[in-house]
Amino acid sequence: MNKAQLPSIESSRIAHSIGTALDRFIKNNQDQFAFASGELSQLLRDIALASKVVNREVNKAGLIDLMGAMGTQNTAGDDQQKLDVLANIRFTRALAKGGEVCALVSEEAESYVDLNNEGRYVIAIDPLDGSSNIDVNVSIGTIFSVYRRKSPVGTPIQEIDILQAGSDQVAAGYVLYGSSTMLVYTTGHGVNGFTYEPTLGEYFLSHPNMRMPADGKIFSVNEGPSNSFSKPVKDYLQFCKDSHYTARYIGSLVADFHRNMLKGGIYIYPATAKDPAGKLRLMYECNALAFIAEQAGGVASDGAQRILEIKPERLHQRTPFYVGSKNMVEKALSF
Ligand code: F6P
Repeated sequence: MNKAQLPSIESSRIAHSIGTALDRFIKNNQDQFAFASGELSQLLRDIALASKVVNREVNKAGLIDLMGAMGTQNTAGDDQQKLDVLANIRFTRALAKGGEVCALVSEEAESYVDLNNEGRYVIAIDPLDGSSNIDVNVSIGTIFSVYRRKSPVGTPIQEIDILQAGSDQVAAGYVLYGSSTMLVYTTGHGVNGFTYEPTLGEYFLSHPNMRMPADGKIFSVNEGPSNSFSKPVKDYLQFCKDSHYTARYIGSLVADFHRNMLKGGIYIYPATAKDPAGKLRLMYECNALAFIAEQAGGVASDGAQRILEIKPERLHQRTPFYVGSKNMVEKALSF
């Protein structure tokens, strides 16, 4: 090596540490978990691995035959996309292989999937959220919630294991397949964000201890059906406009949530004439984001109570959703 080149190489490349890899971070923080047996750590690693496979497919979806509809519908009546189905298979397979999970609730399956009676954890997952954005190369995401089972290990799964309130989550997170891919998660000790480095095949800690700004000026809502919004929601949206706030709506929950998490903002999906109980699903969309929002200093409500306090009665239950910066959500709820 030419000696004269060394200083510039050092300052541009060598001087900067690559940072903490997700695996190391999980290991270093394992003792924060109430039941530090290593299984929850392994489960988070399994989710991260499956997300890398999904990321690979999402990134080349336009090149191979992965765009477009399957010609089937999921439990919610949405058209299933090929990538929805593929992501569901990838996550289910990764979680089944690990052995830590006894049951899995997924947007893509009518009933829960019974995996392994010896597993201690229940997962609720939306393997690929925002699927109407798949075919147009716009950000999409994965959302997951992790619960401890309530019934004894080794016995068949029961309803009490599945229908747990969001406040029982022991971990939750999302993966955003955006201009870069990020994994953001909490185990109830703050929120940390990791960015995927594709050439190394690893997530690295890029957003330690994420905090949602208490205030913001972004409101995210699909105003198409606003004629059927309740008067308080209409009044709040008018307040946003009178206050010269900025409207930003991607139509991918993870992407809209993530932007508001970083910049400060509110996401609203209220009851509409078409979806009188709201559109979003409590167990595998709202609970995880509510847990993350609260851990980052934000607020999540269905308009009347904390999302995390709702006791689900059905797997695919829907709820109105108001989530984001504390002062903005509290203002919206005051209307
Ligand atoms: O159900 C999921 C979802 O695709 C979310 O990701 C998104 O925020 C919402 O639905 C978009 O719904 P709409 O097309 O009615 O605005």
